[in-house]
Amino acid sequence: MLTKEKILEALKEVKDPELNRSLVELNMIRNIRIKGKEVSLDVILTIQGCPLKIKIQEDVEQAIRNLGAETVEVHFGSMTDEERAALASSLRQGQSGGQAQAGSPLLGPDSSTQFIAIASGKGGVGKSTVTVNLAVALAREGKKVGVIDADIYGFSVPDMMGIEQRPVVIGDTILPVERFGVKVMSMGFFVEDNSPVVWRGPMLGKMLRNFFSEVHWGDLDYMLLDLPPGTGDVALDVHQLIPKSKEIIVTTPHATAAFVAARAGAMAVHLTKHELLGVVENMAWYQNKYGEREYIFGRGGGQKLAEELHVDLLAQIPLGAPQYESVDDPGYAPSVYPENHPTASLYQELARKIIRKVQVS
Ligand SMILES: Nc1ncnc2c1ncn2[C@@H]1O[C@H](COP(=O)(O)OP(=O)(O)OP(=O)(O)O)[C@@H](O)[C@H]1O
Ligand SMILES: [Mg+2]
Repeated sequence: MLTKEKILEALKEVKDPELNRSLVELNMIRNIRIKGKEVSLDVILTIQGCPLKIKIQEDVEQAIRNLGAETVEVHFGSMTDEERAALASSLRQGQSGGQAQAGSPLLGPDSSTQFIAIASGKGGVGKSTVTVNLAVALAREGKKVGVIDADIYGFSVPDMMGIEQRPVVIGDTILPVERFGVKVMSMGFFVEDNSPVVWRGPMLGKMLRNFFSEVHWGDLDYMLLDLPPGTGDVALDVHQLIPKSKEIIVTTPHATAAFVAARAGAMAVHLTKHELLGVVENMAWYQNKYGEREYIFGRGGGQKLAEELHVDLLAQIPLGAPQYESVDDPGYAPSVYPENHPTASLYQELARKIIRKVQVS
């Protein structure tokens, strides 16, 4: 027989796709009415016109049908401002381990999140590409992963990951956008029509800080930071904000690029005492149609740099780009390799190396 308790129990398994919490826990289920095998109920959404309404409706209906209901009627409502504020405050408490806490728990002394900054000496070597693919690979290994696109002028992560939504804002809490199991925050979400970003220097530190204090990240094992090119203020800001961050240096096989990257690496070590995890050589070769490797940009830069910095060469990623049947493919992302692509396996290997080097407690 259908009971309210059974229905609530079943709906505990149904999550709000954005908040990634159960609808029951979020107090979104109200007024369950049962007449024989007919069930009706109210689902109170955080915002009106929630784009994921249909998905929520399907999941709720399915869960209740699985209990034996023949018809399920779902009425949608939306939370009042007070309810939203209460929810935002409870989410923040959950993030800081049960007690409200000033500042950002991810950066706090009790945080078990491992920060990894992706840096390079030279621009355009593939930092952002490596960041997004490593993040997705870590998530494919079952880790809870966040990405901060710290390149506030030249943000590229949302486009590379094929993200079209914007973060949901509840009260004064921002929810990161989730894609391929990775939570993402980027300045690109807050800029209309790619209009130029005019902030300079001091704003950056503030933006980054906001990305920690005002974003509900939940528990994360790894937070990757995609740094802007160069060894400038931004990198220093990140180092100051997150002194315990570890670092990966991306370079190309070209000797000059490796030399510039070496400077970035040396700076990371000297100025910030950031631990270097190693070097990733991107655009290492091109595999031609005969399956042979052509070393278009030279050879050996990654190895040389790793030796200079006394760290490992963690991965060599060939030239190429993911291919999808169509841009309408729901899994489409211009720069993320689908799981069965050979380059995805290289990123998977890189992720496993990182997990071994940086154990999360
Ligand atoms: N292995 C690769 N093969 C082919 N193209 C690549 C590869 N890696 C990156 N690219 C392309 O090279 C360009 C630069 O890559 P990306 O934006 O990741 O570099 P970046 O170091 O983050 O650049 P910036 O310094 O501007 O932030 C992009 O168009 C990207 O798609
Ligand atoms: Mg970049």
